[in-house]
Formats: sequence, structure tokens, C-alpha cells
Amino acid sequence: MLLILVVNSRAETGYDGWLRYAEMDDVSAKRRYASLPAVSVALGDSPVIRSAQEELHRGVKGILGRTMRATDRLPDQSAIVLGTLDVITNVVPSIGRAPELKTDGYWLKTVQVNGHACVLITAPNDRGVLYGTFEFLRGMGLRASLSRLDVRESPHAPVRFLNHWDNLNGTIERGYAGRSIFWESNRIVADLSRTRDYARLMASVGINGCAINSVNADSRVVTAEYLPQVARVADVFRPWGVRMLLSLDFASPRKTGGVSTFDPLDPRAVEFWKKTVDDVYRAVPDLAGFVLKADSEGRLGPSQYGRTHADAANAIARAAKPYGGLLFYRGFVYDHKMDWRDLKLDRARAAYDNFHRLDGKFEDNVIVQIKHGPIDFQVREPASPLFGGLEHTSMAIELQITQEYLGQQRHLCYLVPMWKEALDFDLHAKGPGTPVKDLAAGRTFNRPAGGFVGVSNVGRDTNWLHHHLAMANFYGFGRLAWNPDLSSKAVVDEWTRLTFGHDRKVVSTIVDMQLKSWPAYENYSGNLGIGTLTDIIHIHFGPAPESSEHNGWGQWHRSDGQGTGMNRSIATGTKYIAQYREPVSRMYESLKTCPDELLLFMHHVPYTHVLRSGKTVIQHFYDAHYQGAEQAAGFVEQWKMLKGRVDDQRYNEVLALQEFQAGHAVVWRDAINNWFFSKSGIADAKGRVGRHPNRIEAESMRLDGYAPANILPFEAASGGRAVQIANPDQRGSASFTFTGMAGKYDIVVQYFDEDDGISEFRFAAGGRWVDQWRADNVLPTPSKLPDGHTSIRRTIRKLALRPGDEVRIEGLASGGEQAVIDYVEVLRSGQ
Ligand code: GCU
Repeated sequence: MLLILVVNSRAETGYDGWLRYAEMDDVSAKRRYASLPAVSVALGDSPVIRSAQEELHRGVKGILGRTMRATDRLPDQSAIVLGTLDVITNVVPSIGRAPELKTDGYWLKTVQVNGHACVLITAPNDRGVLYGTFEFLRGMGLRASLSRLDVRESPHAPVRFLNHWDNLNGTIERGYAGRSIFWESNRIVADLSRTRDYARLMASVGINGCAINSVNADSRVVTAEYLPQVARVADVFRPWGVRMLLSLDFASPRKTGGVSTFDPLDPRAVEFWKKTVDDVYRAVPDLAGFVLKADSEGRLGPSQYGRTHADAANAIARAAKPYGGLLFYRGFVYDHKMDWRDLKLDRARAAYDNFHRLDGKFEDNVIVQIKHGPIDFQVREPASPLFGGLEHTSMAIELQITQEYLGQQRHLCYLVPMWKEALDFDLHAKGPGTPVKDLAAGRTFNRPAGGFVGVSNVGRDTNWLHHHLAMANFYGFGRLAWNPDLSSKAVVDEWTRLTFGHDRKVVSTIVDMQLKSWPAYENYSGNLGIGTLTDIIHIHFGPAPESSEHNGWGQWHRSDGQGTGMNRSIATGTKYIAQYREPVSRMYESLKTCPDELLLFMHHVPYTHVLRSGKTVIQHFYDAHYQGAEQAAGFVEQWKMLKGRVDDQRYNEVLALQEFQAGHAVVWRDAINNWFFSKSGIADAKGRVGRHPNRIEAESMRLDGYAPANILPFEAASGGRAVQIANPDQRGSASFTFTGMAGKYDIVVQYFDEDDGISEFRFAAGGRWVDQWRADNVLPTPSKLPDGHTSIRRTIRKLALRPGDEVRIEGLASGGEQAVIDYVEVLRSGQ
């Protein structure tokens, strides 16, 4: 009994992601697999192929409930045969002519062997056999037909890597799902079983490399103390065909090498890198390579010595070349101390300006790793022009799986459609027909390497990314890196079936929610290419539009009393648009042809500018924000329809997050709308902005122990004000008399849940206590202030109220948290 309970609960924690291998409950589908061989043969002696065989058995056991038998030679019966092409063609001559396959590609084929129907899973290399096995199991999970199997697949690009921004002390920069799975207290963790399971997830979607430490690298990671430790991770990755990478600190020669310089042209630094790289390869002979962030956001780099990025990259790349190692040089280089008053300066230009002129100067094993857009993973950006600016340099596109600027896995945001916009964008780098996906993969200019890098930042939360539905992004990254031509819908449809099963309602609902989620997020955050409008200085979570302005970070949107948007035009602006080739530059340059969704990225326009949609910019903001908040509320209702169709644990966990998102979307809506209203002075044509007839501001209630306070930024609180209790452990109350009609109401209490205490609240109506709660919500990134990150709501549903009833909230302050209340909204139930 206990065992069953354990198995059931583990099965639905999300730990196995899409590899749950849930039992096939459809009888006719199951019948199709009746003839599946009962034996598997692994040819050759490869740990990767052994993983494939074990995985096959695990999958078949889970999906069909059958235990397969393993052998290492062909039996006189039907079998599933796993082996590389060179081995398999000897053993099974009937296989026939093999298709052209790239490294890591695979071929699944049914053939007759000695009169027995066999399934062959074969590939040019052992990793391909593993990928073919996962494809076979995916097919089973999706109930594909087994008859006359002939699947041939090759990956779009050789590089399909992940980056982790994990610190050696176990924290993760921009990680939202717990601490590092690799590191703890400046050591690699003792128990690497989770890393093994992670490698399995990576392999299942074709990911073949993974950097385990942050780009803001600690120089110790390649020292003698750490090499034996990181080698353990590589050992765990290896059977899954995942090669490890390490991020480097460019100042290492000075920091840990005992050399007084890190000038990449100084022989002492060159010698340091050679020796260090030799040491690393002695510890990890199959290391895929290194990642380097230099001259960026305070990281030291070659500019210190007047050297170029090519000098820096080559110093390390040359040392790695004898081992076949790659050096990923981050294209994310910009000056974060720019003079914001200078209208000609533009951070978006930086990557192209820095790297275009160095084209052809990099060693062949250098890959310039370029974020998909020119700024930094904002809710909408154009494709980086740098992809079209390098013809003689290998590239990789960096996509961010961890939702840094996109709701930090507390908001639903399916990123595949956003990534596809960049990947499919035609930069006309060699005439028409050169989409980013081909440029990054090295196809357009026949580069020896190239591909995809995903910033994953999974953590120790059981389900890896905190939000169950966020795993579609991890899955989607792998699937797109393998085949960027897959549609967003196809990817999420297969992910949903594998992760939640085939119930029609479940599949259609989750697919629908996912596909609507990025547009919804964009609607209630930053529209028309303006940027996410979150707090860009600190935690990148809630609304804080002002934070982009008047500082050196260069995420300016230049909103003033008359208009908004960055003027990046060639004619009068920063000339960023000139970094695109014709006809792309022409399209962006003209207000007539620039797409609405990127208008404010490219141009500064008056708030009254009429979009192609026929709306003014300001009315678009207002409407989009109302629409986005409604969409977020709609996700809650959609999800609720799945009660009983999705296991309770995942159902409840997702529901809690969707409720949170719906509340926070209102915070976003009001903050952004209030901010633009106060800037522009232009009223909402529909009369909603700044007018909330059902709202009772806390500062206008009867207060006892509470006092009104201004909230900063003002737009984070309704009316810019809230009420707070002065001292910890002190109580206060805020109350008002209900004057509406008798009936059932849903009451929203908007309050602030900071990270510096756990306040308590009680809620009474008509003299009865009806609810109480603790302000103990854990934010993805902590904030100690009442602001756009910490504003949160509590909803008390279907409460009977009569005119004259007293509505009362009592708060108990705790630590630095002053039990701050913003407002109460009284809505007719169902409204
Ligand atoms: C963003 C992010 C940083 C990160 C940087 C990078 O700016 O906020 O935490 O270090 O990107 O990609 O290097």
C-alpha cells in the first residue's frame, strides 16, 4: 500500500517531465503494439547504447507493462536492435542502403531478419542510437503506428547546448526553481543522481552539451581543487551523450594563475591558458569546450589591454583546439554605463558594433554566442542583426529558457512562438531565404560549427522549473534545436500528451493556454516592442517602467509627456536599423512598414500616433493591458475545467500559480496604465484607467494602528498609496461600511507580501471572521519593499453582504513587513 502511494505521488510530481511513460490506456492503441518484440539487442560496447537499451526497457515497461529481455547478440526471434550503422550493417545485411545522416541523426526501420520482423534503431554514432531510442519511445507515447517504420532524422545543427548560470555556492543567477542541482557550498554535490536524471531529460530532446557554471564565472572552477569534482559531473553526463562545458573567467591568469597580467597577447597569459586547458582535458577528455563572458556587465576582458574580442577568444581557443574543444564567446557585450542623455547612444547596437568588424578574425573553434535579440530577452525584440553580420565566424543563438524577464515561472509564458519569430526571421544575409535558424546553425555560410544554446537554470524544485507548464519551454528548446521547422503548436501538443496524457479536454486546454500565454504576457507587460517594462535594475519581475530610464543600462524607452519609444532610425536616430541589410532595414525604417509590434523598438512616436490597427499608441496600451489581465484570469477558469482530469498534485500546483498570475496581471495592468496615464495625461477612451468604482482604497478606510503611506514607485499601488503598521508585532485594522445592495460578493484584498517578515491578516464581514492568512508567499526573487513585485491579492469568494455590514481587515506586522494593505475590491460574485 505504501509502495503504491509512493509510486503514484512520485509519478505526478513532474520530476520525470515528459518521460513519465504513463501506461497506455487506449485499448486499440495498445493492440497496435501487440507485436512489439519482447527482446532487445544492444550491439557494440558503448555506455551510451547501454543507456538507450535501459531506457527502451523502462519505456516499454511503463507504457505497455511488459518487461523486455536484453541480449547482446541477435536472437532467433523478433527483436529491437540497437547499434551504430557500421556495426549493424555487418550483423543485419538486410538493412539495405543507409540514408544520408548527420552526426547524431538516426534511422528507425523495420526489417525482416532471418524471417523475423525486427525494429532497428541505428545511427552514425552511438548518441544517434540513443536519440533514435527516445524518438521510438516518443512515438509510442504519442501512439504512433509501428508498422513499416522508416524514420530518418538529422539535427538541424551540431551544437544543441545548455548553459547554467549556477554559482559554486549553490545559488543560481536568474534561477527560479530552487538551488543548483550541481553545486552546493563551493563543491559539486555529493549525490549526483539528480544530475543523472537531468542528463536523461536533456538527451531525450537531443541536447548534447551543458555548461554547469555561470557565465559570470568563478575562476576557481578550472583549478586543481575543482577539476576532479567537475569530472564527476562529466562522468554522469557521459552515458547520456551530454558533453560538459565550463565557463571561464578571463582574468584567471591573474586571479588564480599567479601571473600579473591577463593580456591575451602576453606569452605568460597564453601559457597559462595552454596549461589550464591541458589540465582540464586531462580531467575531462571529452569536454565540449568553454564559455566566456568578457568585457560585459563588469566582467574583465581584453579591453583592459586594448585587445580585441578576437584576441581574447583565440588565446583560449588555440589551447582547446588540439582537443577538439570549442570556445563560446558571448556576444552579449555592451557598455552599462552609457550617458542616458545622449540620444545617439544605443545599447541595441553594441553586439553588432563589437563583433561585425572582427568577422573572420576568430579561430574556427570559436563560436560567437548571440542572444536572440539585441537587448536582453525582453518580451519582444527583433532578431539580432549580428546573425546577419558574420560570414566568416561561427555562431550560436542563445535562447533563455529560464523566464527572467517573462514572469520567472510564476507566470505562464510558452516561449517557443517567441523563439520561432527570431529563428524564422529572414535577415537577407545572402539574399532572401537566410533565416536566423540557418545562419546560427552555420548553414548559410558553411561554417564548421554552430547552433543553439539554451539558458536553462533548472533547480532543485522537484519539477525542475517550478511551474509544471514551464517545462514545455525546456522541451521546446530541445525540439527546436533539433528541428526549428516544427510548429509551436506541434511541439506543445506532443509535450502535453507526453506530460499529461491524451485526454482530449486536457490536451486542447493546455495547448490553448500555452499558445495564448506569450501574447497575454506581452499584453499586460510592455507592448509594441517597448521592452518588458519590468524593474530592470534589480529583480526583473514586477512592473517598474521608470527603472529603464535615466541610467546607464541602456534599456531606455524614452517615454516623455508627448511620446514614447527609442528612435533607432537611420534618418534621425541611433542608426541601429542600418545594421540590418536591405530590405529589412527599409522595412523597419519606415513608419508605414515597420510592424506595429516592434514600432517602439524602432521609433519614437507621439502617444497619439495611429497604429496600423487603427488605434492610437496610448489606447493600444490601455486596451492591451485590460485584455492581458483578462486573459490571465481566463487561464484560471480554463485550468479549473481540468479538475479531476489532471492528477491532484499537478492540478493544485498549477492552479495556485495561475491564481497568482491572474492577480499579478492586474498589478501589471494598473501599474503600466497608471504610469502612462500620468506621463501622457491622455485619458482612456473607455474610462477604465484610474477609475475603479468597486475599489475601496485602504487609505480611505477607518484606520486603527494603521497609517497611510506613499508607495514607491507610485504606480505599484492603487492611487499611489497604501496603509501600513509602524512596528513589528503590532496590530492594526482597516475597516469600512458596506453600502451596496445585499447579495453575494467576491472580495479582493490587495496587499503586499514582502520577503522581510510574515505578516498575518484576518478578514471579517458583518461581525464574523471569515478568512485569515499569512503573507508567506515566496517570490522567485526576494523583495523587501511594498512594490510591483510584492503586490498580491487574496480573494474571498461568494461572501454574503448586506448594506451596513462592517468589512474589516486586521493585520499583524512582522519583522520588516508592515502588513501593508493597498485596497479592497468588492465585486458581484461571478463578475
Ligand atoms: C542578463 C542577466 C544577468 C546575466 C546576463 C548575461 O543581463 O540579468 O544576470 O549575467 O544577462 O547574459 O550575461
